[in-house]
Amino acid sequence: MTAAIEAHGLVKIYETRSGPVRALDGVDLVVPQGTILGLLGPNGAGKTTAVRILTTLLAPDGGTATVAGFDIVAQSEEVRRNIGLSGQYAAVDEYLTGRENLTMIGKLYHLGTRRARERAEALLEQFSLTEAADRPVKGYSGGMRRRLDLAGALVAQPPVLFLDEPTTGLDPRSRIELWDVIAGLVRDGTTLLLTTQYLEEADLLADEIAVVDHGRVIARGTSEQLKAQVGGERVEVVLTAAEDVPVAAAALQPAGGEAPVIDTAARTVTLPAAEGAQSLVAAVRLLGEQDIAVSDVALRRPTLDDVFLTLTGTHAPTEEAE
Ligand SMILES: Nc1ncnc2c1ncn2[C@@H]1O[C@H](COP(=O)(O)OP(=O)(O)OP(=O)(O)O)[C@@H](O)[C@H]1O
Ligand SMILES: [Mg+2]
Repeated sequence: MTAAIEAHGLVKIYETRSGPVRALDGVDLVVPQGTILGLLGPNGAGKTTAVRILTTLLAPDGGTATVAGFDIVAQSEEVRRNIGLSGQYAAVDEYLTGRENLTMIGKLYHLGTRRARERAEALLEQFSLTEAADRPVKGYSGGMRRRLDLAGALVAQPPVLFLDEPTTGLDPRSRIELWDVIAGLVRDGTTLLLTTQYLEEADLLADEIAVVDHGRVIARGTSEQLKAQVGGERVEVVLTAAEDVPVAAAALQPAGGEAPVIDTAARTVTLPAAEGAQSLVAAVRLLGEQDIAVSDVALRRPTLDDVFLTLTGTHAPTEEAE
């Protein structure tokens, strides 16, 4: 079976006043039909550029790609007929109502008036927009706009869908609602490429994650595989007093089998938990034997943020940092 999305060595160079910017530097991607690929990366990683190239809005400067079996350059028309795109910034007409926006898109896709109306009705229902359907979009909340924009990408029922940061800027509740909708799409067989800066979003939705940084895919795999790259579970001990950190690290060495990682400022000692919960018990016992006061101890599974730190040496950006 051919992949729904396949890209080889995509390169994009933007010419700017301060010189060329290599936004994509040889990106390879394969997304099997009916699966979700999460393209995860910080600001400026190249996520939107990749989406724009795969959706034929931008021509690549190198490499090749097919979407739904069609070449993005030679068969761009066919590609466009088989995809839906919801961009990073919702592209809805402020002065039209939600219903008018969706009906208009249906007409642009030559669905015919009746079919366009039916699709609009069904999507308004699916995205909980029925009540707001006849109000101008101007008065919609950010979450409602996002939902409407996503609904717009689904009007023509495309087999391949691109969502560029679908939940950026949404409050936690709207985000969870949208996750539900997105997960439902893939149950219906749609293939999805989703970009995100949210580790938990990629973790939750994606079958496979490609971590991008500076225009390159620096890691790929399931979230479990990525987490495994940074090692398994760890025991994290927070001490009551910073001066106990070296003593505790020495005491804990036998439990971890290797030198623990210490962070004096945070008063933490972290060690591999080869035996899982048993390692935690052993650590607590060793500290107790030395009368070292502990303010917190936990068994910690690696997060995708840890993956990012391991791969790039910097934390993945958080919402606060934006
Ligand atoms: N039109 C453009 N002209 C010049 N440089 C651009 C243009 N668009 C993007 N870039 C640059 O290309 C690089 C990749 O940008 P891109 O928008 O693809 O990243 P992104 O991963 O989508 O980031 P974000 O998370 O902020 O949306 C960045 O260095 C960016 O500044
Ligand atoms: Mg972007």
